[in-house]
Amino acid sequence: MQTRMRRFSVYILPALLLACLVYLRRDAKLVASLANRELRRPNVSVPKLVKSSKCLPDMMVANSFPSLPEVHRVFLTYKHCRNFSTLLKPSRCAAETFLLLAIKSTPVNIDRRAAIRGTWGKEAIIGGKLVRLLFLLGRSEIKVQAHSLHQLLAYENLEFDDILQWDFVDNFFNLTLKELHFLRWVAEDCPHACFVLKGDDDVFVNTYNIVEFLEHLDPDKYLFAGDVISKARPIRNTNTKYFIPESMYPASFYPHYAGGGGYVMSRLMVQQLQVAVEDTELFPIDDVFVGMCLAKMGIIPMHHPGFKTFGIQRPFNPFDPCLYKELMIIHKQNPTELWVMWTLLKDDNLRCATSVTQKL
Ligand SMILES: *[C@@H]1O[C@H](CO)[C@@H](O)[C@H](O)[C@H]1NC(C)=O
Ligand SMILES: *[C@@H]1O[C@H](CO)[C@@H](O)[C@H](O)[C@H]1NC(C)=O
Ligand SMILES: *[C@@H]1O[C@H](CO)[C@@H](O)[C@H](O)[C@H]1NC(C)=O
Repeated sequence: MQTRMRRFSVYILPALLLACLVYLRRDAKLVASLANRELRRPNVSVPKLVKSSKCLPDMMVANSFPSLPEVHRVFLTYKHCRNFSTLLKPSRCAAETFLLLAIKSTPVNIDRRAAIRGTWGKEAIIGGKLVRLLFLLGRSEIKVQAHSLHQLLAYENLEFDDILQWDFVDNFFNLTLKELHFLRWVAEDCPHACFVLKGDDDVFVNTYNIVEFLEHLDPDKYLFAGDVISKARPIRNTNTKYFIPESMYPASFYPHYAGGGGYVMSRLMVQQLQVAVEDTELFPIDDVFVGMCLAKMGIIPMHHPGFKTFGIQRPFNPFDPCLYKELMIIHKQNPTELWVMWTLLKDDNLRCATSVTQKL
């Protein structure tokens, strides 16, 4: 009997205690995680992460161009995949929206989006006109401090209501998919916006000049204005990111197109462009692709000297306030430069004597 009691106290009692402890800990964890989940779930509906859209690769195409670079073969293999689901979307545009600023960004560029929201993308009303800012994104598997960017983006959208994200990989060759899906979104959720500015997240936009330029124009007439280049030749050098083999584009010249860094379109143009885009095969360079669609529509985009999407000569003096007075868009600026430009633009005490457009 005594030995039995001893065995109980030496072996079984500790084992029981241990089991109890493990059970309690697990319970506590469960409670904690439930509490966390309650805390973390805001009272706003976040669309669930949808399973990747089913679209099978076209292996025949992939195998017919064995000599092409990998990205080109991947592009051709998935070119027919044109329907991807929406992962995050902001609220609809107000019916009175005058100008929609649709900026191509990528999940990890949080700093650029923050700089835009704090500077040129900040004003919701300019000259009495309603302006709406929106970022266009694809998907990325990159993690920041072990946090998936998707979760961070969901919060960003809750906070700022300006993220439109689709379920395709966000890379250079998929920018055309962004164009296509963006135009579908406009048709669905922002059909009344009078004008749309489409641009990159490294541009400085003088939103005051843009509104001033647009406010006398009719949204229901054709308008497509930007930094237009004519007779650009496809680049046949395999070492650049713009390389296009003859098998993908045999002609010697591209149609007229506006640099993708930033251009503006009227409502009628956006509607008609969507029709053309739906009916056109994807092309890896998105601004050239838009040019192809315009050509199909018989539209020649209008060149405007205030759009500097192919860059301006460096070194230029970013502290010259005159630089910004007549410009619409300047490409390739980092967040610090955006702040400098915005500050100078807002400073009414800085005056320019001469016109600057000629100097550029
Ligand atoms: C949460 O949302 C529901 C339904 O939209 C609403 O009835 C409720 O008042 C909201 N609660 C809070 C705390 O905002
Ligand atoms: C994409 O969706 C459209 C209509 O929503 C449909 O007509 C088309 O066949 C779809 N394409 C593919 C490749 O699934
Ligand atoms: C574009 O995105 C799709 C879907 O995520 C992906 O399958 C495809 O490989 C991407 N295309 C390129 C050229 O990377």
